[in-house]
Amino acid sequence: MSGVGKDIEKAVGLLMADEVVAIPTETVYGLAGNALSEKAIRKIFEVKNRPLTDPLIVHLPDLDSIPLYVTNLPDLAIQLFKTFSPGPLTILLPKSKLISDLVTNGSPLVAIRIPNHPLTLKLLRELPFPLVAPSANPFGQLSPTKAEHVQQSLGKKILYILDGGPCEVGLESTIIQLVNETDIRVLRQGGISEESLLALVKLAKEEALEKITVPGSMESHYAPSLPLRIGPVENLLAQYRSEEIAWLGFEKLEGDIPQTNQLLLSPKADLNEAARNLFDCLHRLEKLPVKIIGTQFLPNMGIGKAVNERLKRAAVKRA
Ligand code: TXA
Ligand code: MG
Repeated sequence: MSGVGKDIEKAVGLLMADEVVAIPTETVYGLAGNALSEKAIRKIFEVKNRPLTDPLIVHLPDLDSIPLYVTNLPDLAIQLFKTFSPGPLTILLPKSKLISDLVTNGSPLVAIRIPNHPLTLKLLRELPFPLVAPSANPFGQLSPTKAEHVQQSLGKKILYILDGGPCEVGLESTIIQLVNETDIRVLRQGGISEESLLALVKLAKEEALEKITVPGSMESHYAPSLPLRIGPVENLLAQYRSEEIAWLGFEKLEGDIPQTNQLLLSPKADLNEAARNLFDCLHRLEKLPVKIIGTQFLPNMGIGKAVNERLKRAAVKRA
């Protein structure tokens, strides 16, 4: 089992030695390594069992540290970072020579984000390099929003988990690409809703864009170890006995499923609270002695869109 604690100096020591360390962010826990070290980067892919074709996000402590790692920082990016960072926004920018192709899977664009967590911001300020950090879960599985989630899935493979408590946002960052001076494209829905981005930018028309795929965007992802089905509870009850079903509800319990098999995302029907609880609830439900997890989409607005996106991919049947 790995060590768990709040010892920043220990994390600094390990990261300086090209080891990987799990770190807290406001979105999900990340599996961090030196973004400038090929050895550390390879270790991240190995520990997560992640294909090298899935590029990594580079994490920095502040806006001033970005220019070293990009060849162009457009006004729109500056404005967006000033508004939403530190926070759950990731922007693709043209990478400088310091960022290796291993980080971006050969793409000329690097994903940059300033995470909003006091421990990790302190860590980033103490380190002489940025951190690459994918979510700290085995590839394709549920993302971790608590140190114990990381311990359960990767604890045997890593030396230290920096414990920053439960993640406040609970869903990964929103990833965007700048299309021109005013338009952006959202590549992954996340902690910053489209509605809040629209105060500053326009969404580019899909037809006008060349197709870029964000790896992991179509196949099964964020998936619990049990099958997940989306739809009314009646559909499941037609196929399974009630005690074989675990139910993830939004604000109210279902009468026909045993209460011990149910969790609610937000009893007060708050979408932000639902997002914060999503992965923790799925981690808990997948441990129940049932055959299937059922749930329904949330209202498709604000961060609800990002939750629905995760549910859709979690429900894709695995090969
Ligand atoms: O909130 C987050 O973003 C968390 C925390 C730890 O910061 N990180 C995270 O990383 O979600 P990961 O690796 O699980 O998901 C990052 C996504 C991947 O789907 C990856 O393909 C995409 O970002 N991505 C990273 N760099 C990219 C690039 N240069 N071009 C296109 N997509 C990129
Ligand atoms: Mg991930």
